Amino acid sequence: MSSEQITHSLDNIRLGVLLSGRGSNFVAIQQAIENRQLNRAEVVVVISNHADTAGLAWAKSRGLNTVTLEKAGFENRNAFDEALAEILQAYQVDLVILAGYDRILGAAVLSAYSGRILNIHPSLLPAYGGKGMVGHKVHQAVLENGETESGCTVHLVTELIDGGTVLGQTRISVQPDDTIESLAARVLAEEHRLYPRLIGEFILQAFPHKFTIENKGSTHEPETLSDKSLA
Ligand code: GRF
Repeated sequence: MSSEQITHSLDNIRLGVLLSGRGSNFVAIQQAIENRQLNRAEVVVVISNHADTAGLAWAKSRGLNTVTLEKAGFENRNAFDEALAEILQAYQVDLVILAGYDRILGAAVLSAYSGRILNIHPSLLPAYGGKGMVGHKVHQAVLENGETESGCTVHLVTELIDGGTVLGQTRISVQPDDTIESLAARVLAEEHRLYPRLIGEFILQAFPHKFTIENKGSTHEPETLSDKSLA
């Protein structure tokens, strides 16, 4: 590289993962990172609002930073959310990834990370979203309504529950003999593909300055995020 080139910071985008349980989407994201399919991102902290979750245990087994932040330790929702925002900022998180996080985010985190919080939901939003539409309730409602399609959605998180801009979806067919469990399993398998891929795409779009090398007077196209396709 000549001295005439200015290389912008090629630091990784620092992901802060929030989870509450199993953490299979987090595992899919971390595995994509470890497989160099998301090689401009790193998970800098995994935060769980419940102790002893499988997701937290897996994060520890990978040597990642983990934090347990339980609501019992706080006077009210605002105090909890302020503490959460402080932790994310202390780890210099660029992008917040909700991965099965079962608490509604409050103003402190939403304002500190406006436009930089992603979530995945196990339906084709706006259908089957909103307060209370979580876990198997989503798939049960899809089956009860005789839907022929379902799927999953990655979206930006705002104060509207499941109402932020949709970044992408995967559609699947609902089979006549589907049960809640079989439908949930097929949707989850798609979640594991969709979420890492869309995080990669979002990073390129939302943090373009991280991927740009400038010559005097000209700017190259951003480099691609992955060495491998995440299709
Ligand atoms: C997933 O179905 C996701 O869509 C929803 O919560 C579930 C989390 O599962 N937001 P896991 O903890 O990632 O396995």
